[in-house]
Amino acid sequence: MTAGRPDGRTAESHRIAVIAGDGIGPEVIEAAIPVLDRAANTHGFSCAWERLPYSADHYLKTGETLPDTAFQHVQNDVDAIFLGALGDPRVPGNEHARDILLGLRFRLDLYINFRPVTLLHPDLTPLRQAVGPSGRPAIDFVIFRENTEGLYLGRGRTSGDEYIAEDVNTGTGVERIIRAAFEWARAHGTTRVTMSDKSNAVPAHRIWQEKFQAVAAAYPGIDAEHRYVDALAMELVRDPGRFQVIVTNNLYGDILSDLGAGLVGGLGLAASANLHPGRAGLFEPVHGSAPRIAGKGIANPMAAVLTGALMFEQLGHAEAARDLERAVRETIAAGVRTPDIGGTATTAEAGRAVGDAL
Ligand code: NAD
Ligand code: IPM
Ligand code: MN
Repeated sequence: MTAGRPDGRTAESHRIAVIAGDGIGPEVIEAAIPVLDRAANTHGFSCAWERLPYSADHYLKTGETLPDTAFQHVQNDVDAIFLGALGDPRVPGNEHARDILLGLRFRLDLYINFRPVTLLHPDLTPLRQAVGPSGRPAIDFVIFRENTEGLYLGRGRTSGDEYIAEDVNTGTGVERIIRAAFEWARAHGTTRVTMSDKSNAVPAHRIWQEKFQAVAAAYPGIDAEHRYVDALAMELVRDPGRFQVIVTNNLYGDILSDLGAGLVGGLGLAASANLHPGRAGLFEPVHGSAPRIAGKGIANPMAAVLTGALMFEQLGHAEAARDLERAVRETIAAGVRTPDIGGTATTAEAGRAVGDAL
């Protein structure tokens, strides 16, 4: 979308739906938006933020989770969705989050949940040494989490004493996420893709082995390796530096992405993008609504800022994205940090410092 400028040229403007959600969601989103505006402005584009009310509050007041008109709207009329977090102790069944967050992932068919794990400053890792036996100096890998299948579909039934959850793996679904991981690896010059499943215990995971072998054959320059998810969890702690691209199912991707966040400073810094190439994406920090710190003004807004960077990259503004990451790195290095990463800054102070570093 373009809009007129006083000089007669057109500046690109992106229409972005904002679902700030619950708990710290609104705090981090509102701290991130001015930072993103500043980066956009520097790079010659702008964002029209459209705040939508869908949250636990809205659900408790109206009974509405994500109405169909709103779904149609975000499906048809916006360039991206920027989401804070959903989850509230007053909604113990989490039904609003299921409809809004999982609903958007499934109904928009955003089959790639892209979650980078990057060490932005050496002192952020709890590991004694950020250099593992592999000799690689940093922690820098990405997780391709399948986002439309698995146990998350909620299929199953309860019968007497049995609570049955079906783990849905389709050949089409498994193949497209594996292919996305290899395509990304090729485009970014990385040399290793690690697929993780639990096919030794879960027969349905055999399809992951089959598809992985088939897809890998088309990428001869890339080392295609497999790890069972239990062993991978161990190795990620022992030698995270050797991993480049990890592809796995919905549930394991959820767990490994929090583990990955823990290796590089925690959830306050972890970004994610829900994607389907060619469509508008949904961008959200990996973290949740953090009810224990909500309302205190101390949530780390950097995950939201870095999530905005992923959004800008997807919208075609790779330089703005790099600038945002640089500004976050510099702010951390300068010691302006919220308590989760060892500082005393408030959400607002950390946000402002990142903005100033731009
Ligand atoms: P959480 O991510 O909210 O919190 C886990 C821990 O990390 C807590 O100690 C929290 O204080 C800390 N933390 C998280 N984000 C932080 C930030 N930005 N700055 C500083 N500290 C931060 O996970 P949880 O406690 O398991 O879940 C809380 C609620 O959030 C639940 O309802 C859950 O379902 C929901 N949730 C939502 C999303 C999402 O919307 N994408 C993701 C995860 C969890
Ligand atoms: C995430 C969250 C969600 C998930 C929850 C809130 C359903 O943990 O985005 O990582 O499990 O996908
Ligand atoms: Mn999660």
